[in-house]
Amino acid sequence: MNFLSITDINVSKVLSLAKAVKENPPTYAHALKHKALAAIFEKSSTRTKLSFQLAVLQMGGYYIELGGAHLLNGHEDAHDTANSIAQYADFLLARVNSHSSLEALAAHSPIPVINALSNLEHPCQALADLLTISESKGLHKTKLAYIGDSNNVSNSLLLACALTGLEIAIASPANYGPSKSIIKKASEVANNGFTVNRTNKPPEAAADADVVYTDAWVSMGQENEAEQKLKAFKGFQITQELMECAKPDAIFMHCLPAHKGLEVAPDVIEGPQSAVFQQAANRLHVQKAVLLMLSNPKPGVNA
Ligand code: CP
Ligand code: NVA
Repeated sequence: MNFLSITDINVSKVLSLAKAVKENPPTYAHALKHKALAAIFEKSSTRTKLSFQLAVLQMGGYYIELGGAHLLNGHEDAHDTANSIAQYADFLLARVNSHSSLEALAAHSPIPVINALSNLEHPCQALADLLTISESKGLHKTKLAYIGDSNNVSNSLLLACALTGLEIAIASPANYGPSKSIIKKASEVANNGFTVNRTNKPPEAAADADVVYTDAWVSMGQENEAEQKLKAFKGFQITQELMECAKPDAIFMHCLPAHKGLEVAPDVIEGPQSAVFQQAANRLHVQKAVLLMLSNPKPGVNA
């Protein structure tokens, strides 16, 4: 079983397991004894790298980072890379420039391949976000407003909402909204029908929201589009004034890294409504749950 998209995993089971792991870490201290996680990062990372590394170490396993982003760049084919890594390791974690690199590894890998972020999705982040929302607001009748660029993070969030029944509204400038293919996939995986409210007016999306979420306007690898994007996203900053359109007890979320003064005003991300470090903390518990589910693919565990 691979974990390339949030739709590849049983979200309610992984959240229950993450809660159990969070409540009682010592119970899982040997759960991955002698198992090894090999990691390849084509892009920089603080939270994903550290949380996966600690997750496997705290459960008795090993973490090995292959210092070679070149591994996914024609050094050898994906078949040989994936099969060689599988001779030593039990999981392969990869943060890639192109989602197709993950698909190529997964197509040949005898061990589970985990998406540590691609241009298409960031499923581990969305799971930590669901855990954070479920702790702060519950997942029932909860509205998430995503205001900003439709990217890897918002794609996984959109699918997460479809899978869990969270209501979602997205505000983005023209040409930066969710793709047809991700909306189609969200409709296909939704249990009870799914609508995404789309607008180019941030206050409309934020109205009565329980959660206001944003991410970078210029994601890693998009630096050459920065000038054009910064112009297009003028007026999309999450300010205190915009937060006031949401419910009074709404939380602010951001996967981090944040660009203060661009997608979010410093007083919002550093203010009392901000849940960004709860999100960051939850990455650890969710990564543990993901590794446990992938290492124990018995019916009833990840079915
Ligand atoms: N949110 C997140 O994935 O952070 P890093 O890029 O630091 O891993
Ligand atoms: N959308 C951002 C997320 C970083 C965790 C990026 O891809 O750079």
